[in-house]
Formats: sequence, structure tokens, C-alpha cells
Amino acid sequence: MNYENLPNHYDIEHIRIEPNIILAPMAGVTDSVFRRMILRLSGCGLVSTEMTNAASVSPKALKRHKLLDFLPEERPLTMQLSGNEPEMVALAAQQIEQLGADILDVNCGCPSPKVTGGGHGSALLKDLPKLSRLLKAVKAAVQIQSH
Ligand SMILES: Cc1cc2nc3c(=O)[nH]c(=O)nc-3n(C[C@H](O)[C@H](O)[C@H](O)COP(=O)(O)O)c2cc1C
Repeated sequence: MNYENLPNHYDIEHIRIEPNIILAPMAGVTDSVFRRMILRLSGCGLVSTEMTNAASVSPKALKRHKLLDFLPEERPLTMQLSGNEPEMVALAAQQIEQLGADILDVNCGCPSPKVTGGGHGSALLKDLPKLSRLLKAVKAAVQIQSH
């Protein structure tokens, strides 16, 4: 395959991802300093926060853990939530939107027992009707792109 002819950007609705490289979310790694280092070293079209438990996304808790702190130069930025309760994740999604994220991502893949033990991450895939309710609640709660 000739990769040279691939476009160097793509769009998620109105958000341009250019270059077409994404820094994947990594818990314990992709904090604001790491994201800015990667942006300066190599350039990425989109960077992601670390996974953040929806239960800890209140103004008070955010001051304490600072997982969702970012600087304007990091945008476009996607924030990743983990959670299991549709209403709680939807409320956290509204906070995420207010913080200024461009995109919101609900983790449905983390296999760590610490995460799946609470029914988060890949455990969501065991109850697809509930996952559907959760994603619908999130989408209804915010205007930003959510998936
Ligand atoms: C240390 C570490 C932490 C990770 N944490 C997350 C996470 O919080 N959320 C997530 O969706 N994926 C997480 N991942 C998975 C990565 O985002 C990525 O999907 C995976 O490393 C595969 O990347 P690749 O397709 O570029 O090889 C983590 C991976 C690593 C190595």
C-alpha cells in the first residue's frame, strides 16, 4: 500500500485532526506535560487525557486530582471517562463539556481488574443494553462530540 497518497488530515464533524495521528489515552502517562511534550516533539492531530473516573468529576474532586487540567495549546483535546451508571456519566460529561474538551470518549476497552471490578471499561461490553443507555444519556447531555 502506498501511504504517501493518504490525506494528512481528517474531520470529526467540525474538528480537523491534522496531522492524522492521535495520542492514545494512557492512564498514568498522558498528563498535560506529556501531551505538550509529544505535541512539540512530533506533532499530533489530537491528544487525549488520562482515563478519569466519572465519579470523580466534580469541581471539588477535579481540584484535588487535576487529571483533566489542560492548556489551550493542547486543543483539539479529547477527554476520556470511565463509568458504569448512565446518569452519573452523563453528569460528568456535562462537566467535561464545561471544562472545554472538544471530544468526549467513554472507555469501553480497559481490561484492568481495578477498572472492570467496578463495572467500568471492558466490563461495559458484557451488558450491551446498559452500554446503549449510558451512551444515549451522555449524547443527550452534551453538545460536544461523544463516543
Ligand atoms: C500504560 C498504558 C495505559 C493505558 N491506558 C489507557 C486508558 O486509560 N484508556 C484507554 O482507552 N486506553 C489505554 N491504553 C491503551 C492505549 O490507549 C492504546 O490503545 C494501546 O496502547 C494500543 O495502541 P496502538 O494501537 O498505538 O498500538 C493504555 C496503554 C498503556 C500502554
